[in-house]
Amino acid sequence: MKTSRIIKTLSIVGLFGQFDISIQFSDLTVIVGKNGLGKTTLLKILKGFITGKHELFYSEICDSIELVFDDGNIISFGDISDEMSKAVARKGIFNHIMHDEKGIESIFKGIDGINEKLSEEEKKDLAERLIESAFKSNYFIDFYKKGVNEVLEKNNKQVFSNKYHTQELKDSIVVRYLSTVNISANAGNTIDFGNSIEKNLLDLAIYDELRLLLKNEDCKAIDAFREQINIFLRESQKKCELDQNEFVFITDNQVALPLSKLSSGERQLIYILATAANTCGKKTLFLMDEPEVSLHLSWQEKIVDAIMNINPNMQIVAVTHSPGIIMNGHMDEYIEMKDIMRPTKNV
Ligand SMILES: Nc1ncnc2c1ncn2[C@@H]1O[C@H](COP(=O)(O)OP(=O)(O)OP(=O)(O)O)[C@@H](O)[C@H]1O
Ligand SMILES: [Mg+2]
Repeated sequence: MKTSRIIKTLSIVGLFGQFDISIQFSDLTVIVGKNGLGKTTLLKILKGFITGKHELFYSEICDSIELVFDDGNIISFGDISDEMSKAVARKGIFNHIMHDEKGIESIFKGIDGINEKLSEEEKKDLAERLIESAFKSNYFIDFYKKGVNEVLEKNNKQVFSNKYHTQELKDSIVVRYLSTVNISANAGNTIDFGNSIEKNLLDLAIYDELRLLLKNEDCKAIDAFREQINIFLRESQKKCELDQNEFVFITDNQVALPLSKLSSGERQLIYILATAANTCGKKTLFLMDEPEVSLHLSWQEKIVDAIMNINPNMQIVAVTHSPGIIMNGHMDEYIEMKDIMRPTKNV
């Protein structure tokens, strides 16, 4: 089955000096837990590790972190495991074989009688096979681990990653982090523009996302957004239409409402779905903190499907207080925070 998975596992040792955490991710992972257990912290770690924009001082909150990607690459903090060393070496050697002057062509030139012209796909396959067989030799593993560890240990307080992998992530993966609770309509965090205009952070975020969506040349993104948002708005007797390159929200009795006149939940939903639509066609990791804020249970149940319909090429990690968002056929993707936490041995 085709998967949109980008990240596979996250392990944290000594979180807040108390817990070890181990999570296996699926295409959709919903982590449910009580206040203060570390849910938002997990999302911030994921965002920081993948984008390289770190919000947290990891040494203040834990001993070590290891994030394993679906393709075997690893980013870690604190500890350098054997798997991490191998992942770094594997990626580094692969890039040398594929892209250096003395690449795979020269290996072939050295063998008498072989004068193959290999396609890029064949080269890639051969490079991978060469590396895999080399990794079966203990001598080779020791040699590379030693080299990798020497380099990494010089930067012991940093996050360790392979530069080729980091570049690949930048080039090919979109990461969106939605902290619904921070910018919800009721959060009270308004910005005063000094000319008696005060705007709520949510409104500003919605305008940004909608503007970006309207600029999107891929009309499928706009259509997908409208199709999904209208499934929800139908319940409150409204619909979203496109009029002269603007989104308008029309009531049953044909009154056009500006965004600011929509309810908190309606705006919250527009924000989430417009953000999803802006990732259309791109491989995306969608991180959501409490997406249920302001949404009635019937809307909570539909939100995950709506997001996945808008961009099927997306891995979603959501943290929440409410299992409502997985009620509609996603019970298998539900993880209880307490089930992934163990008292730490690192004391
Ligand atoms: N260095 C630290 N040592 C111990 N505890 C810490 C440290 N840093 C943060 N904490 C605590 O860890 C908890 C983590 O908060 P986090 O925001 O991740 O929880 P949450 O599960 O998202 O909670 P909520 O459901 O309320 O949003 C908070 O209670 C915070 O006070
Ligand atoms: Mg939180």
